Amino acid sequence: MNILLLGSGGREHAIAYKIAQSDQCSQLYIAPGNAGTAAVGENVSLDINDFEAVGQFVISHRVDMLVVGPEAPLVAGIADYFAKQPLLRNVMVIGPSKQGAMLEGSKDYAKAFMQRHNIPTARYQTFTEATLADGERFLETLQPPYVLKADGLAAGKGVLIEPDLATAKAHLREMLCDHKFGDASASVVIEEYLSGIEMSVFVLTDGTHYLMLPAAKDYKRIGEGDTGLNTGGMGSVSPVPFAGKAFMKKVEDRIVKPTVRGLRDEKISYCGFIFIGLMCCGIDPSDPASGDPYVIEYNVRMGDPETESVFPRIKSDIVHLFENAARGDLDGCSLEVDPRSAACVMMVAGGYPESYKKGDVIALGTDDDTLVFHCGTKRDGKGRLLTNGGRVICTTALAPSLPEALLKSYNRSQAIEWNGKYYRRDIGQDLLKLMQEA
Ligand code: AMP
Ligand code: GLY
Repeated sequence: MNILLLGSGGREHAIAYKIAQSDQCSQLYIAPGNAGTAAVGENVSLDINDFEAVGQFVISHRVDMLVVGPEAPLVAGIADYFAKQPLLRNVMVIGPSKQGAMLEGSKDYAKAFMQRHNIPTARYQTFTEATLADGERFLETLQPPYVLKADGLAAGKGVLIEPDLATAKAHLREMLCDHKFGDASASVVIEEYLSGIEMSVFVLTDGTHYLMLPAAKDYKRIGEGDTGLNTGGMGSVSPVPFAGKAFMKKVEDRIVKPTVRGLRDEKISYCGFIFIGLMCCGIDPSDPASGDPYVIEYNVRMGDPETESVFPRIKSDIVHLFENAARGDLDGCSLEVDPRSAACVMMVAGGYPESYKKGDVIALGTDDDTLVFHCGTKRDGKGRLLTNGGRVICTTALAPSLPEALLKSYNRSQAIEWNGKYYRRDIGQDLLKLMQEA
């Protein structure tokens, strides 16, 4: 079958790499893709938020399946657009309807959904400019630090964690009255701060049935020891050592099942990924039965850079799973997972996540059996590989243990060179330390 994948990051390179392994895939297009995806499929220059252009391409190239990488086209309703067009309605779309995508597109919608379905999450209330004074009073009932979340999509910047009440109130006012995050902060969710360890859980669902994909942990801050500015993600590991069978059963029973049941009961059309950002509270590494998971957020896509450590661990044919998801037949599918650990190290351009340069020549060094996923790269007219984004390239290694996977991934990262390259050297170390305490 012919498949079109939308997106251009490391996540999409990892998804494309997996799709290209399937016997069922005869032609893979990636729009717009990067220099890495060009090696496993054909990049096509399309604006992924221009549904008409995407639809035209799908018709003219006889595309059978559309896989949507990032959230923006989903939140804008690409699945509904395809469902309504006579020539597109039979195309299998991996990505939820606009209503399903609101789980990511509106924090207030997601919180209300969790409340309706008894899914554990932080206590919260939502406020607008008209209810600013109520918001300030709600803040007074909470303990510091204070969590303020812009309701809408804010390019990953819409969450503020404030150490004191005065700053929290000032920023609440800026979000609601001064449009600090534009329309995205016309409503603000204020919620209780949860203390624990974060992890990312991934589900593939057809709206009724689901498969739990390998879980992962990502590293969001630019600096070692989780310091400095937030980034798109500086690395990831899968599996997460503290999240064994007993803990993951709690995640499945308390969160995954009621989430999928909620979608079904509310008749929300949802074929695609659910990425559940969890706060794991009360983890005692010496007791595998300890800890309680709470939902911090839903995303309606895979994570980046979690996909780069999760997808290489999936041994099943991903196109077969997508096809069954699109048909509503996921209950007949099982997932085969590589038991080894995967470690992904992200390399970024100097200066990222603030201003950084593009166009530096990348030398990839010698190939080995680690995977190199491109994030922000392109080739110039001479075929040279150039940096073309903040997150540039990542390396993923698989090995019997997490320390070995990290060592291999770091060895490969060291061999990749360009001017200003930066990466964190402590990916996974927090988890190794935690497990040593067990
Ligand atoms: P989000 O955009 O919802 O993922 O939030 C960004 C980050 O803020 C999360 O990855 C957490 O590190 C942090 N965060 C969000 N909500 C809470 C909360 N209720 N308690 C503690 N940390 C939070
Ligand atoms: N790694 C977090 C995200 O993709 O949102």
